Amino acid sequence: MQKRFFLSAVALALLAAHAGTALAQEKFKIGLILPMTGPFASTGKQIEAAARLYIAQNGDTVGGKKVELIVKDDTSAPDVTKRIAQELVVNEKVNVLAGFGLTPLAMATAPLATQSKTPMVVMAAATSSITQASPYVVRTSFTLPQASVAMADWAPNNGIKKVVTLVSDYGPGIDAEKFFKDRMLFNGAQVLDTLRVPMRNPDFAPFLQKVRDLKPDAVFVFVPSGAGAALMKQFAERGMDKAGIKLIGTGDITDDDILNSMGDVANGVVTSHHYSASHNSPLNKKFVAAFEKANAGLRPNFMAVGGYDGMRVIYEAAKVTKGGNGEALLNAMKGQLFESPRGPMFIDAQTRDVVHNIYIRKVEKVGGQLYNQEFSTITDVKDPGKAK
Ligand code: DHB
Repeated sequence: MQKRFFLSAVALALLAAHAGTALAQEKFKIGLILPMTGPFASTGKQIEAAARLYIAQNGDTVGGKKVELIVKDDTSAPDVTKRIAQELVVNEKVNVLAGFGLTPLAMATAPLATQSKTPMVVMAAATSSITQASPYVVRTSFTLPQASVAMADWAPNNGIKKVVTLVSDYGPGIDAEKFFKDRMLFNGAQVLDTLRVPMRNPDFAPFLQKVRDLKPDAVFVFVPSGAGAALMKQFAERGMDKAGIKLIGTGDITDDDILNSMGDVANGVVTSHHYSASHNSPLNKKFVAAFEKANAGLRPNFMAVGGYDGMRVIYEAAKVTKGGNGEALLNAMKGQLFESPRGPMFIDAQTRDVVHNIYIRKVEKVGGQLYNQEFSTITDVKDPGKAK
C-alpha cells in the first residue's frame, strides 16, 4: 500500500516535471502584420524596429513562455492582411494579432478577431471607429479626433479664423475633417472648404491651388505617415507660405523620421499629436537613444511608439495570464496605466482605446536638426469620437 503510494507519488512528480518542461518550451506567439513594402513601408519599419527593441530590453520570455514574434508583410492590401491573419490564427495559433498600419487593414481583420476570440492590438491605424469593429480590438496608437479637436481649439486663439481642410480621402482623413471642422465652427471660426485627396499616390497640386484661390488664414492637413514630405514639397513649390497661408495639421504631416528631409518649409509648422521624439522626459530620452542606436540613427516616430507601447500592453497581459490567450489575455490588456515615451498612457477598459496627452508642437531647429517642439499640453484626452 505504502509502496504503491510512493510509486504513484514519484509518477506524479515525474509527470509534473515533464509538464513543467513542456510549459517552459511552450511559446507565446505574437503575429505582427505590417506594411513592410510599398508606400507605407515606413510604418512597418518603425513598428517592427520598436517591437524588436522592446523584446531586446525586456527579454524573450514572458509569463513562463518563450516569445515568438512572427512578422508578416501585408503590402498594405486589406485582403492580404486578412489572409495572413487567418493563417496566423489557424496554423500558428498565435496568442495575439498586432500591427495594422492602416485603417482598412484593421477593419478587414476585425471580424476574424471576433470569430476566433483573438486579441488584436492596433498599433498604427487611427480611425475612431476601429475599436468598435470588434470587442477584441485594443488600440495603442491614437485617434484622429483626439488630435484634430486639440488643433481646432488652438488655432482660433492664435490668429487662424478662416481655414480650408485638406485630408486623405479615407477613414482617418474623414475623421480629421469632421472633428476639426465641427470644433472650429463651435469656436466661431470659418471653414471655407473641405477638400479630399486620394489616399494613394496623391497629387496635391490642384488641391493646393484651390486653397490658394480661397485665401484662408491656414490650411489644415491630414495625410498618413510618410506622405508629409511630398505635401511639404508641393506646399513650398506653390508658394503657399509666401502667399501668407499657414500650414497646420495633425502630427502625421511632420513625421519625426522624415522631418529633417523636409527642409525649411517645415520650419515653424504647428501641429497637434500624442508623440514627439523630442518629448522631454527621461523615459523618452532613453527610448529615442536606444531606438537610434539599434537602427543606424533612424529617429523613432509616432508609429514606433504605438508599436513599443503595444508590446508593453501585450507583455503585461501575458505576465498576468501566464502566457494566456483569448478573453483572459484581452481582459488583462484593459485598464493598463503606465508611462510611455509619449507621456502617461491608459487603456480605457470600457472602450479599449487609448487615453493620453495631446501636445501642440512647433517645428524648430534644435542642434541643427528639425524637431516637433511641444509647447502646450492637453492632458488625458479620451477619443472624442466615442462621445455619446
Ligand atoms: C492611419 C495611417 C497613418 O499612417 C496615420 O498617420 C494615421 C492613421 C490610418 O490608416 O488609420
